[in-house]
Amino acid sequence: MHFRPKGAVQIGQTHRVTQGGRLTIMTAIYTASQDFSASAHVDAAGYDRLYAESVKDPESFWAREAQRIDWIRPFTKVKDTSFAPGNVSIKWFEDGTLNLSANCIDRHMIKRANQTAIIWEPDDPKTPAKHITYTELLEQTCRLANVLKAHGVERGDRVVLYMPMIPEAAYAMLACARIGAIHSVVFGGFSPDALANRINDSEAKVVITADFGPRGGKKTPLKANTDAALLHCDDRVKCLVVKHTGDQTSWVDGRDVDLKAEMAAAKPYCPYVEMGAEDPLFILYTSGSTGKPKGVLHTTGGYLVYAAMTHQITFDYHDGDVFWCTADVGWVTGHSYIVYGPLANGATTVMFEGVPTYPDAGRFWEVIAKHKVTQFYTAPTAIRSLMGLGAEWVEKHDLSSLKLLGSVGEPINPEAWNWYHTHVGKGAVPVVDTFWQTETGGHIITPLPGAIPQKPGSATKPFFGVKCVVLDAATGQVQEATETEGVLCITDSWPGQMRTLWGDHQRFEEAYFSQYKGMYFTGDGCRRDADGYYWITGRVDDVLNVSGHRMGTAEIESALVAHADVAEAAVVGFPHDIKGQGIYAYVTLMKGIEPSDDLRKDLIKWVRTEIGPIASPDLIQWAPGLPKTRSGKIMRRILRKIAENDFGALGDTSTLADPAVVDDLIANRMNRG
Ligand code: PRX
Repeated sequence: MHFRPKGAVQIGQTHRVTQGGRLTIMTAIYTASQDFSASAHVDAAGYDRLYAESVKDPESFWAREAQRIDWIRPFTKVKDTSFAPGNVSIKWFEDGTLNLSANCIDRHMIKRANQTAIIWEPDDPKTPAKHITYTELLEQTCRLANVLKAHGVERGDRVVLYMPMIPEAAYAMLACARIGAIHSVVFGGFSPDALANRINDSEAKVVITADFGPRGGKKTPLKANTDAALLHCDDRVKCLVVKHTGDQTSWVDGRDVDLKAEMAAAKPYCPYVEMGAEDPLFILYTSGSTGKPKGVLHTTGGYLVYAAMTHQITFDYHDGDVFWCTADVGWVTGHSYIVYGPLANGATTVMFEGVPTYPDAGRFWEVIAKHKVTQFYTAPTAIRSLMGLGAEWVEKHDLSSLKLLGSVGEPINPEAWNWYHTHVGKGAVPVVDTFWQTETGGHIITPLPGAIPQKPGSATKPFFGVKCVVLDAATGQVQEATETEGVLCITDSWPGQMRTLWGDHQRFEEAYFSQYKGMYFTGDGCRRDADGYYWITGRVDDVLNVSGHRMGTAEIESALVAHADVAEAAVVGFPHDIKGQGIYAYVTLMKGIEPSDDLRKDLIKWVRTEIGPIASPDLIQWAPGLPKTRSGKIMRRILRKIAENDFGALGDTSTLADPAVVDDLIANRMNRG
């Protein structure tokens, strides 16, 4: 039985919380119990002292923290970073060398050879779970690394992973890191086109996939999608296939490789390569406010220090705990908190192939009870959808192993926070609402559970070394008052920060450092309350957050206009009870094309094919015209208001070229909720 200190509740404080357009009044701050704080890695005094040190003397702070990982050659330089316009450059521990796979596996062999590294829970609960020890993880990673080498993968080469949530995904990531190859994981829900774009942009030599990806009793045809993608890629790209479900797929001799068979025949050991701290580790494509997805690049040393530290401290991970992050490895959350952070800490990490509602709405809770999970980390969208299905699904299972709950991906509305805390945590465990991004590598604003009292809906305070400022969005003025509202920027680097965009450093500078000179712009709005707590209010750029998935409106628009019947399209978000934000598309058809429900369905299908199901528009409104300024710029502010069904206060419309367009859009609006 795991030690499970009880939390306590303080009543009496009142906060006004505005989220999703609704005003909620909160009345509680939750603090961890004295027992929890006493055994936590960081307590309240510790947070204040260490945070002050981390921003005043980052060199000493990070030199010390970097000792949590093993270096082959110790670094002599800690930090060499600049956010100066035209000269953004970020280097941490740059003359140190290490291997990430050795840090996540080999160094644990003395103490943890027989400890479970990964608990794999399959989609179908009738299939037995797998407990993979550190010894097995080493062997499988080595075998996979040897297969990659046999197919010509060398240090610096790119390998794309398009995989289900199976142990081979973790082996493949670690195998790349072992031999110095750069992986780029593409979420299995993306379409062949999206996959092809990522293979081509990263100039990958190899794609690793599986025959099918089972999820919720359905099978995603990953191999068939890869076949379709590879039609648009260089002929030399090899395709390593995990025969996972065993269902039949097509097979291209000379290009396709049976990965499990080759792993079985490969040598069980592969030496690891000595990598520089600033050698690239992975590329992860993410949506921005303009153009095609951006290849966010993370490097080895700083990323690992930061992933390991945040995993240990934010989740208060201790030896013997069982940590479960429900994300997919196709997203950064899966990179940092299923694979790299936990394994660097010698943890036991759960990898779940399925979905929260299969075979029933109790699956998450059943898995927690089955594997005695101590820390559980999921997204608000999952909490909201399970909340809607009723607490009885939670009550059926023994959740007494839980010590902490976490949330990530989007603002968590206080109702969902309270439900999570009350029904899943039984009112007795801390809830950490972790704010971060693909770009930040790990948490940047988060409660430390034994140190920082939690207010439902607030990500609370900055993590060590992260210097947050709130700026007035229009003037760019730093807001000095504690209680304020504006856009969130960060003024100095931390080790987990992205280094550049793959192949496009100029776009990196433009996307993140040009709006507010000398600062990293998160793209998020926020409020800071009188206690210095941060409340993230959501993206202020043209990026949507749909079920915790990041989508660029520009990407969806270009998919829509690629359809032969579409002349013009504008996409905005609107509040959605479960997804957080839904996708609302205004579509102007080509002359002579009649709108119809069939065409609407066809357009939705089209976007799914171009990008993937996560980008499917929820609502499509036929727009005879779009509201534009006389210079031709679409006035998105107006489109957002109409999509939100809040058209009473459209603001100044006098600059519109044709104000009548707005009346038509209002009259035919799709969201009347
Ligand atoms: O808008 C913020 C939101 O998710 C964005 C980052 O998305 P992505 O790079 O896909 O990474 C998601 C997982 C780290 C942010 O710009 N976001 C993430 N976590 C939170 C959040 N918004 C509010 N509260 C959070 N805890």
